[in-house]
Amino acid sequence: MATAVCPGSFDPVTLGHIDIIRRAAKMFDRVIVAVMTNPGKQPSFTPEERVEMLKLALQDIPNVEVECFHGLLADYTRARGAVAIVKGLRAVTDFEYEFQMALTNKKLNPEVETVFLTTDAEFMYLSSSIVKQIASFGGDISGFVSPENLKRIKERLCKEDNKK
Ligand code: PNS
Repeated sequence: MATAVCPGSFDPVTLGHIDIIRRAAKMFDRVIVAVMTNPGKQPSFTPEERVEMLKLALQDIPNVEVECFHGLLADYTRARGAVAIVKGLRAVTDFEYEFQMALTNKKLNPEVETVFLTTDAEFMYLSSSIVKQIASFGGDISGFVSPENLKRIKERLCKEDNKK
C-alpha cells in the first residue's frame, strides 16, 4: 500500500490545497495530510484548528487522513512509512524554495521521493496569506476556501468584524 504525505502549514486550508490533496488521493492508496510547523511563519490558527478545518473540507475522500506533527518532515515520513511527499507548485517563484526542501528531505530520508503537482490554473495566484489579507479587510473569500470553513475563517480574520 503506497502512502503519501501532503505537508503544509494550511493556515488556513485553501481550495488550491484541496485540489492538490484530491489529486494525490487518486494517485496513492493512502494520503496523510500533515499540519506542520513552518518556522518562518506566524500562524493565525492553532494546529488543532487547522486539522479540524482540513477534516471538514476533505470529509468526502475516504483514503485521506489528517493529523498534526511538530518536528522534521523527514522523520515524520519515515515514521508513517510514506513513499512520497506531495506538494503543489504554483509558479517559478515557488520553485527554488521547494527544490531546496525536496533535496534536504531526500538527504534526511532517502526512502521518500518528493512529487510536485502543477497547480490548477484557477489556483495559480492563491495562497493562505492572500486569503488572510483579503479576509482581514472584509473582502469576499468564498471563492478561495471551502464553504464549511468560510464562517470560521471570516470570524477569526476580519478586523472589521472584530471591531464590532
Ligand atoms: O505550507 P508551507 O508553509 O509552505 O509548508 C512548509 C512545511 C511546513 C512543509 C515545512 O516548513 C516543513 O517541512 N516543516 C517541518 C520542519 C522540517 O522538516 N523542515 C525542514 C524541511 S527542509
